[in-house]
Amino acid sequence: MINLKLLTLWVLTVLCSSHISSASDSFFINCGSPENATLNNRTFVSDSNLPTEIVDSTQGISLETTDSNSLPSGDESTLFETARVFSDESTYKFPIKQHGWFLIRLYFFPFVSPSRDLTAAKFSVSAQNFTLIRDYKPSKTSLVKEYTLNISTDHLSLEFRPKIDSFAFINAVEVFKLPENLLPEEAGLIATQKNLKLRTHAIETVSRINMGNLSVTRDQDKLWRRWDSDSAFIGEAHFGMPVENLKAVNFTAGGGGITEDVAPVYVYGTATRLNSENNPNTNANLTWNFRIEPGFDYFLRFHFCNIIVDPFGFERQISFDIYVNSERVETVDMTEVANGTFGAPYFVYAVMQKERSREGALNLSIGGVMDVSLYPVSFINGFEILKLSNEKRSLDVSDAVFSDSSSRGKSSNPRIGLIAGVSAALCVGLVFCMVVFWCCVRRRRKMQSVHSREVKQNESLIFSSSKIGYRFPLGLIKEATDDFDERLVIGVGGFGKVYKGVLRDKTEIAAKRGAPQSRQGLAEFKTEIEMLSQFRHRHLVSLIGYCDESSEMIIVYEFMEKGTLKSHLYDFDDDDDRKRLSWRQRLEICVGAARGLHYLHTGSARAVIHRDVKSANILLDESFMAKVADFGLSKTGPDLDQTHVSTAVKGSFGYLDPEYLTRQQLTEKSDVYSFGVVMLEVICGRAVIDPSLPREEVNLIEWAMKLVKRGKVEEILDPFLEGKVKSEEVKKYCELTEKCLGQNGSERPTMGDLLWNLEFLLQVQAKDEKAAMVDDDDLEASVVGSTVQFSVNGVGDIAGVSMSKVFAQMVVREETR
Ligand SMILES: *[C@@H]1O[C@H](CO)[C@@H](O)[C@H](O)[C@H]1NC(C)=O
Ligand SMILES: *[C@@H]1O[C@H](CO)[C@@H](O)[C@H](O)[C@H]1NC(C)=O
Ligand SMILES: *[C@@H]1O[C@H](CO)[C@@H](O)[C@H](O)[C@H]1NC(C)=O
Ligand SMILES: *[C@@H]1O[C@H](CO)[C@@H](O)[C@H](O)[C@H]1NC(C)=O
Ligand SMILES: *[C@@H]1O[C@H](CO)[C@@H](O)[C@H](O)[C@H]1NC(C)=O
Ligand SMILES: *[C@@H]1O[C@H](CO)[C@@H](O)[C@H](O)[C@H]1NC(C)=O
Ligand SMILES: *[C@@H]1O[C@H](CO)[C@@H](O)[C@H](O)[C@H]1NC(C)=O
Ligand SMILES: *[C@@H]1O[C@H](CO)[C@@H](O)[C@H](O)[C@H]1NC(C)=O
Ligand SMILES: *[C@@H]1O[C@H](CO)[C@@H](O)[C@H](O)[C@H]1NC(C)=O
Repeated sequence: MINLKLLTLWVLTVLCSSHISSASDSFFINCGSPENATLNNRTFVSDSNLPTEIVDSTQGISLETTDSNSLPSGDESTLFETARVFSDESTYKFPIKQHGWFLIRLYFFPFVSPSRDLTAAKFSVSAQNFTLIRDYKPSKTSLVKEYTLNISTDHLSLEFRPKIDSFAFINAVEVFKLPENLLPEEAGLIATQKNLKLRTHAIETVSRINMGNLSVTRDQDKLWRRWDSDSAFIGEAHFGMPVENLKAVNFTAGGGGITEDVAPVYVYGTATRLNSENNPNTNANLTWNFRIEPGFDYFLRFHFCNIIVDPFGFERQISFDIYVNSERVETVDMTEVANGTFGAPYFVYAVMQKERSREGALNLSIGGVMDVSLYPVSFINGFEILKLSNEKRSLDVSDAVFSDSSSRGKSSNPRIGLIAGVSAALCVGLVFCMVVFWCCVRRRRKMQSVHSREVKQNESLIFSSSKIGYRFPLGLIKEATDDFDERLVIGVGGFGKVYKGVLRDKTEIAAKRGAPQSRQGLAEFKTEIEMLSQFRHRHLVSLIGYCDESSEMIIVYEFMEKGTLKSHLYDFDDDDDRKRLSWRQRLEICVGAARGLHYLHTGSARAVIHRDVKSANILLDESFMAKVADFGLSKTGPDLDQTHVSTAVKGSFGYLDPEYLTRQQLTEKSDVYSFGVVMLEVICGRAVIDPSLPREEVNLIEWAMKLVKRGKVEEILDPFLEGKVKSEEVKKYCELTEKCLGQNGSERPTMGDLLWNLEFLLQVQAKDEKAAMVDDDDLEASVVGSTVQFSVNGVGDIAGVSMSKVFAQMVVREETR
């Protein structure tokens, strides 16, 4: 027992003493002060008590400010109260036990004291024969300079050299050993295959930037580094949006290797991301502009950590490029680099050569060519700019070295290649880098060859890249749908069956499983995924993913609780618990679906025509909000169709635009026609073709339009709605429907016009209900509730275009007619 205790004690002693010996390479000095100062959990000791081997305190004089009000604000002000002033060349010599990377931080604040005005100082500072500062003439502000040096001698000497007839001063000094893995041994030069060894340089911190519009204080960083907010550097027309999710950061995820020494959780847990919320097609760069001093190389480090929570709980394929001064540095592929791990910090680095910093500007951009991607994701968490000492062993701007014209020629070399460090390559050198690089290349090649093999096996199942939507493993879908249990079938269509499923994270899905070996189906499968990947909107059903494994064709959508619009309009059984829709709900559904289609027609440079608008393709969520579904027949048009006149007419019988049928001319107006048919179904509460009815009533359009033309609108009204809707509103609705069903496309309104008119009808209806509510107080609560909902729905969700803009456009169109 006693022995054990002794042993424990001994172990503790050994641990403690070893801890002390490594900590003894740390020096925090409060210069010129008789007192120690405590700051950020460190004691800055008075330099009057330092051993003379470090500094001869008889050298120089101590000085204290008499005007503490003039001190810069912040924690550091206590360090600025005193200074040591040297009239002759003087040196701090710090004994170094362990060789390696050291950080030196120098604090300067030129206060005025009765005996001396420190702003009159002029001096140079050097360390280990590197010039850190040459002929520094302080301005009135405080200055904290930070350097990193590889020390392989038993002393670190810090020299202050005043100009003749002037003097030098220093307020505080920090010297401490850095973790060895903080910096790589080498870094690739941008756009070359060359590497630069870092240890032979003295390094000065120029900028440490925390993205996400928040700065990180010295307290929050293990090495007392300050990280400035990116907001001051954000470029013009920035499409950035701050994200914060500190909880997501997991330093052991993704293979580890990165510790909090590299950057704290406050850096990795915040980011600036591309704001693509309002527009799934956003394809812009995020840009930051920095000033740097020309004539030096710069080590740049880009920090990433995926902290963006996907609304569906899936890992998105995230891939984008990093550019520095318009030159591509690296492609970031989250899935490859961070091993697809959410919350795993990692970084990429490179050296920008002096030829590229000639203009003194460093513009960082991230973004890139995202061919087909839903709501492109690009983001960055942190960025460091470190200046490297040059041939003159100097970091001072007065020693800048400009390369000759021959190397200027080289800088325009368009070949891009770079060995970028990834987390695993942290503490290893060239060899490992080469191995990683080689592996990556091999892996890419392998993937390419696997890909081309697949292509050969199944020649049509090709997506130009894997960046389309989320590719699901078949196993996951089988698990969600109980191995395609027939009891979970919620729909059967031309393409195949639709199953309800529940993913592990409890997300409910609808999985549409294509009947195998149908070439037709394959083309539609592909079109649908491509369309849904490109177009995202509140009123278009969302794609969650797809699966093309083992010749399956499965599309996974968000689950729509209330099923199709069709199922809520007719064919009710007596014991049916489906709710019949009120007039107002029907209008809201029409408005929603019209918004979705309007977005398809106008949301991108080239209109997309749905081609299969019908009540069975309008789905309702739990609150009866409408979403347009089934994009298998969608086409970009209209000019595309001119070259495709021979294409077989496609669509659903009963909904087909007569103009398209006869002339095979496909335009957005074909969708408007089909939508008119849906509007008829909505008001009549019956199917487009109903063979059980008397002959003249079988065809809904013929029958209804005949009665509408005769002004007998009440005869076509769904019996369920009788007495629940004003006849002049029915009349207006029918007029609108009639216009949509015009024989020629040019007679029909655009989807935008139609939407505007439907919204108007909905507003009238809301007003009527409100008026009725005044009579009947009991109704108040429910109606007020839905009025609010309407106003929320009504504002600004057409592809991020504000409603006022849409209205303005419609007015213009109206006038030009
Ligand atoms: C300052 O700190 C050092 C080391 O911790 C200690 O030896 C010294 O006595 C302290 N001086 C004062 C004035 O507190
Ligand atoms: C301050 O240092 C002590 C001892 O090293 C440590 O236990 C404590 O966590 C530190 N506090 C902060 C806020 O870093
Ligand atoms: C850097 O430090 C290492 C020890 O950590 C030493 O072996 C090496 O010689 C140093 N390099 C230079 C260029 O000073
Ligand atoms: C700095 O230069 C002096 C003279 O050239 C030399 O004696 C000394 O060893 C050098 N110190 C270092 C750390 O390289
Ligand atoms: C950044 O933060 C500042 C201050 O908190 C705020 O005024 C500004 O709007 C923020 N910028 C962005 C883009 O969120
Ligand atoms: C962090 O990642 C590791 C490795 O993937 C995992 O074991 C651990 O549970 C994660 N921690 C948290 C808090 O998620
Ligand atoms: C990626 O993850 C897999 C398993 O999750 C692991 O075996 C592999 O070592 C990881 N690779 C890297 C580079 O971290
Ligand atoms: C950096 O961006 C600024 C502002 O957009 C621009 O004026 C400048 O030309 C850019 N410089 C470089 C080197 O790309
Ligand atoms: C982003 O910037 C790079 C470099 O300037 C450029 O090549 C690329 O086209 C830009 N991307 C977008 C979407 O503007």
